[in-house]
Amino acid sequence: MSNPSEHPTHHTRPQQKGASPFKSSQAEFWDERYASVPWAYGQEPNDFLRQELDVLRSTWGHFTGRRALCLADGEGRNGVYLAQLGFEVTSLDFSDQARQKALQWAQTCGVALQYTLTDLNAYDFNSKDSREGEMVGKTWDLIVAIFFQPSKPTRERLYAGLNQALGAQGHFILETKHERSSPESDRYPGLATLARDIEPLQVVTGQECARELNEGPYHQGMHEVTQLHAKKMA
Ligand SMILES: C[S@@+](CC[C@H](N)C(=O)[O-])C[C@H]1O[C@@H](n2cnc3c(N)ncnc32)[C@H](O)[C@@H]1O
Repeated sequence: MSNPSEHPTHHTRPQQKGASPFKSSQAEFWDERYASVPWAYGQEPNDFLRQELDVLRSTWGHFTGRRALCLADGEGRNGVYLAQLGFEVTSLDFSDQARQKALQWAQTCGVALQYTLTDLNAYDFNSKDSREGEMVGKTWDLIVAIFFQPSKPTRERLYAGLNQALGAQGHFILETKHERSSPESDRYPGLATLARDIEPLQVVTGQECARELNEGPYHQGMHEVTQLHAKKMA
């Protein structure tokens, strides 16, 4: 079993010369990762996301014109896939390297992708500052968080806002690594913790399991994960 830890621990790294004074060492960690390999997590969408979108398609019929928000979308493999399905997609991440690669990938695929550089530690779903012009006051049909593994305070604060950020019958799809053996770990929660964090969204399907990841060089081999698909109640 490979180590699930995948977040920077060197928070005190000095600011690089020429770097934005606002760029955190965490964002620099991710910029370096994305600059080091062609596709850190591959170009295929996450397979749990793809599976749950197939379920959603049978409910919604099609996705054209529906609005999707991809939290921590990285190089855009999931955002681009959603755009290819017909969603109007906004991706958020704080890595500029990732953003540039995602926008290039979207262009290559011939789809539109709105990609905003944002530190999700300070993000508010409903603030005007965090919404693009015509999106102010609107809600999302789908919010996606694939291997976004924030600290517990950020996770609790953000996920408590999901219900308000989603429109009627809106859905939330998440996969995260799960650290079963370290209950004090706050970045890799299990299903019970996540189900509580997202209340009052209702869990459609969810599980903790060990599964084989084959998503680019950084997601290979057996990993413990938590998968969750939830929806907003009418
Ligand atoms: C493991 S990668 C997953 C990327 C993408 N979701 C995927 O599945 O390919 C985690 C991502 O979270 C982003 N991230 C981590 N903390 C963040 C924060 N506070 N604000 C914005 N993005 C963050 C990183 O830049 C990175 O792109």
